[in-house]
Amino acid sequence: MIEGILEKRICPVVVLDHVEDAEPLADALLEGGLNVMEITFRTDAAADCIQKIANDRPEIIVGAGTLLCPEQVQRAKDSGATFGLAPGLNPQVLAKANELELPFCPGVMTPTDIEEALGLGCDLLKFFPAGPAGGPKFLKALAGPYAHTGVKFIPTGGINRANMREYLDLSVVGAIGGSWMVDSVLVKEKRWAEITWLTREALAAV
Ligand code: 3PG
Repeated sequence: MIEGILEKRICPVVVLDHVEDAEPLADALLEGGLNVMEITFRTDAAADCIQKIANDRPEIIVGAGTLLCPEQVQRAKDSGATFGLAPGLNPQVLAKANELELPFCPGVMTPTDIEEALGLGCDLLKFFPAGPAGGPKFLKALAGPYAHTGVKFIPTGGINRANMREYLDLSVVGAIGGSWMVDSVLVKEKRWAEITWLTREALAAV
């Protein structure tokens, strides 16, 4: 189901503290035209939020992000996540995802990381942190020696409405990830209509 990200070319990176925010947020994204989201394992509520959306909003393709250990991969899978991502490349995390048949996108930032990921059979890689690492220019140069392998990247970190096109215009970019349309302040203040508006605007720019 990771193809859902590639189809829409945008994956909102969500941090949720409260399970009761999961559904309204999912609805705000759907209203804006987006049926995919990554819920990060950075809060205690992450697994419950994924489960809620998987059960009550099956039209949403929900993935789990920030999976840092095999145990979190297990919880993500048990909660109903249909794909997983991580900021880095942890072979133990990847092995668990493979064992559970959870499509997985590890994070990379260097040529060595890319070669290690390719060697482990991954060809969809999160490029993180995209902005601080050097942005689209850096990603273009980094991907140069590897584009012919068919590898695709999901740059994340520092992407927003102003710079998203520069990433999407690169042929090695499958999709972009980011929190700008689901910013934690917007979620905390339950500004669902703004989230819908920002989602619609982002999709229009794709
Ligand atoms: C991630 O985990 O992918 C990033 O925290 C998202 O980065 P952003 O908040 O800069 O969009």
